[in-house]
Amino acid sequence: MSVIHIGGFRRLCGRIPVQGSKNGVLPLMAASVLSEETTVLTNVPAIQDVFCMMGILDFMGSSCLLENGELTISPRDMGRTDLPACRVKQMRSSVILLGALLGRFGQASTCYPGGCSIGKRPVDYHICALRQLGAEIEEEGGCIRAKAVRLSGTEIRLPYPSVGATENVLLASVLAEGTTVIRGAAREPEIEELCLFLRTMGAGIEGEGTDRITVRGRKRLHGCRYRTVGDRIVAGTYLIAAMAGRGDVELTGVKPAHLESVFHMLRKAGAAVSPGEDRIRIRMEGRPRPLWAETGPYPGFPTDLQSPLMALLCCGEGESRIRETVFEGRYGTALELGRLGADISVAGEEAVIRGIPILPGGTAAARDLRGGAALVTAGLQSEGETIITDCFHIERGYEDICRDLRLAGADIRWLERKAKEKKE
Ligand code: UD1
Repeated sequence: MSVIHIGGFRRLCGRIPVQGSKNGVLPLMAASVLSEETTVLTNVPAIQDVFCMMGILDFMGSSCLLENGELTISPRDMGRTDLPACRVKQMRSSVILLGALLGRFGQASTCYPGGCSIGKRPVDYHICALRQLGAEIEEEGGCIRAKAVRLSGTEIRLPYPSVGATENVLLASVLAEGTTVIRGAAREPEIEELCLFLRTMGAGIEGEGTDRITVRGRKRLHGCRYRTVGDRIVAGTYLIAAMAGRGDVELTGVKPAHLESVFHMLRKAGAAVSPGEDRIRIRMEGRPRPLWAETGPYPGFPTDLQSPLMALLCCGEGESRIRETVFEGRYGTALELGRLGADISVAGEEAVIRGIPILPGGTAAARDLRGGAALVTAGLQSEGETIITDCFHIERGYEDICRDLRLAGADIRWLERKAKEKKE
C-alpha cells in the first residue's frame, strides 16, 4: 500500500526543482538499444516506470545502472528480443521497444499490453506503420510477433498524431534502408527530444516539431551522453498545486516553451505566470475563475493535466466545463474527487464542475498516475484532512510528490510508501 496524508489548506510559497521527464526518458532508453555502444543519460528521474524499463532491458541482456540521476545502458550483450510479460502489463509504453528491436535485430515479440484505466489504448497504428516499413507481424493469443529481414523506408501517414506510434516508427526507421517520411506525426516535445537524441547517436532526421518528419536510414548508430529534459507534466502539476495553495511558487529545471497552452489556461483562471529561461514563477490569489477547457494533441492542452485542472476547478468561482478528447477513461477520477466533496457531473466527453469555496476533505483512491496527482491537488484546497490510497500509481511518474510540495510549505506526507522496486 502507498498512502498519502494531506493536513489541509496551506498557502504555498517556495521553490521546487522539477525532475527529468518520464515520457521523455522512456523512449531514450528504448533508443539506446539501437547501438551496441554504451549510452549515458543524465537527469533521469528515480520513478517506477524508469525502474520497470530498466528491468525490461536487463531481462533482454542489456545492463543498466542508475546512480544519482545518471543512467548507464550497455546493450552490447543483448541476447533476447522478447519482452517480459509481467513488465509489459505494468507499463504499456514498453511497446515502443518493438520498433527499436526490429531496427537492431530484425525481430521482437511482446504480449499485447491490453486495457488500461485511462482508456482502451490500442496499438493498431503502431502495428500498421511497422508493417508498412516491411515488418511481418503476427498477432496471436494476446502476443505480437514481429520479424523483418530488412526494414525499408516509405511514406507513412498516421491517422492520428499518436505519440507512441510516432516514436515506434522513428525507432524502427533510423536503421532502415532508404528514407521514411512520417505524415501526421505527433508534435509533442518528447518527440523532439527523441529526434535530438537519435541525431546525437548519428541518425539522419529532420522536421521534428512539425507533422512531417523525414528519416534517412543509417547503417549504424553510436552511443552518446544526453541530458533528459525537465518534466513538463510534473511542472504543470506543481503550477496547478501552487494555484490550489493560492501561493507564490517558482519551479526550476523546465523549458517554459513546452507549457504555452498550460500558461494560457492558468492565466485565464486568474494566475500570474512569469516564465524565465529555465524557470517559471506562478502567483495566485483567491479562487480560480471558471474555465472551459478542452484537451488535445500538442500544442493543445495536455490530457495528462486534465485531472489536476479538474481538481483545481472544484473550488472555482462558478461552473467550469472540461472536454476530454484523447483518453475516454480519465473521468474515473471525477468519482474519486466526489468522495472528497467535489460537485462534478460527467456526460460522455464532457465534465461539468460546480465550484465550492473549499473542499471538506475525506478519503479517495488514485485510479491512475495523473488522477492521483489530481487528488493531491484537491487535498491542498481542503479544510479537513485528505487521505489518498493506491498512491503506487503516483510513484510511477513522480519521484516524491510529498517531498516536492513540502518545499513550498504543503502539509503532506507519506503514511505508507511502496518500497522502491528498482529492477527486481
Ligand atoms: C503518450 C504519453 C501519455 C500521454 C499521451 C497523449 C508516454 C509514455 N505516454 O501516451 O502520458 O497522455 O501520449 O499525449 O509518452 N491510439 C489508437 N491506436 C494506436 C495508438 C493510439 O487508437 O495505435 C489512440 C489512443 O487510444 C488515444 C490517442 O490515440 O486515444 C492518443 O494516444 P497516444 O498519443 O498514442 O498516447 P501514448 O503514446 O499511449
